[in-house]
Amino acid sequence: MEKKYLFSPGPTMLPSEVLLKMAEPIMHHREPEFERIFGEIREGLKYLFQTKNEVLIFTSSGTGAMEGAVSNILSRGDKALVVRGGKFGERWGEICKSYGIEFIPIDVEWGKAVDPEWIQEILESDPSIRAVYTQASETSTGVKHPIKEIAEIVRGYDDTIIVVDAITGIGVFNIPMDAWGIDVMISGSQKALMLPPGIAFAALSDKAWKFVERSDLPKYYFDFKKELKSAKKNQSSYTPAISLYVGLRETLNMIREEGLENVFRRHEKLAAATRAAMKALGLELFAPETPSNALTAVKIPAGIDGLKLQDLFFKKFGITVAEGQDRAKGKIIRIAHLGYYERLDMVMVISALEMLLKEMGYKFELGTGVRAAEEILMDK
Ligand SMILES: Cc1ncc(COP(=O)(O)O)c(C=O)c1O
Repeated sequence: MEKKYLFSPGPTMLPSEVLLKMAEPIMHHREPEFERIFGEIREGLKYLFQTKNEVLIFTSSGTGAMEGAVSNILSRGDKALVVRGGKFGERWGEICKSYGIEFIPIDVEWGKAVDPEWIQEILESDPSIRAVYTQASETSTGVKHPIKEIAEIVRGYDDTIIVVDAITGIGVFNIPMDAWGIDVMISGSQKALMLPPGIAFAALSDKAWKFVERSDLPKYYFDFKKELKSAKKNQSSYTPAISLYVGLRETLNMIREEGLENVFRRHEKLAAATRAAMKALGLELFAPETPSNALTAVKIPAGIDGLKLQDLFFKKFGITVAEGQDRAKGKIIRIAHLGYYERLDMVMVISALEMLLKEMGYKFELGTGVRAAEEILMDK
């Protein structure tokens, strides 16, 4: 018998009740029932994003919302500041480049968080910067960036906004959009939202909507103004991923029932247990100082083939963990704990890691990692 388990930081494992809902016969997106669902989703998303403003929904992967957060926000001749601390930070730069936007990169060592003071210094020395682009959680390195501090700095500049890719941050740790003064925050469905890939989200502050008003970059599908107008009528501008919306209503209800605070606490606990297990096994964390609670990136110890380890996870246990991307390829594995994960899920993946490491010749006592995790997971 073969079972499959996803421990990649997107897509993630999904609740079966949500899968079942999505398997129901499809409805039409201009039906009153769909509009009712849309209305509920709008409220649920505001709760999740912790904002009074509308959260726009697009049928695309998360990168679609990232692209929209450039093409709708900036104008020809605008300059941006881009935090590049990993693959997804680099993506902000690539999108800016495709739209002809000049940007200043802040190249952060992979595995480290950006120092907000660098942002302050650059904004101070270059008043032509209109937007700061960053991740809340850089999934390629497992780092959490100091969004509260960065947002506070950017708030001091009337004509500059902060754009946060919170694709693996939302529903994982606290990023209260309005309370922290975040101007644009985006997310995607296949992470903590416990859905398949296919929908992306973008919420904007009043300050950011002023940027949208003057933006003259080309846009068509990802047109924030158009989508806002549709959303206010519980409609999407184009044919939406109907089944995913149906699933989204369920997962937003699940999040609301658990309560955001408890959701954050659960992620905190799973992350703490996973980190403790890695340390107990003598493994080094890739982001030891400022880890994100979405995933744990861990260095492959000397003498172990990282790609083979990842391969064996799947071949022997049906478990998908993520390998390192780009310059981290073969050097780290990334174990996710965002979304539909509970205590025993982590015990299982840690146990599988132990068995594989043992087989590959790594020296340690079996059960060391599991035990360290259990000590943290025992008291709920
Ligand atoms: C932080 C972050 N940003 C952006 C993306 C890109 O999203 P997608 O692959 O859904 O386009 C991801 C997906 O892994 C991500 O983790």
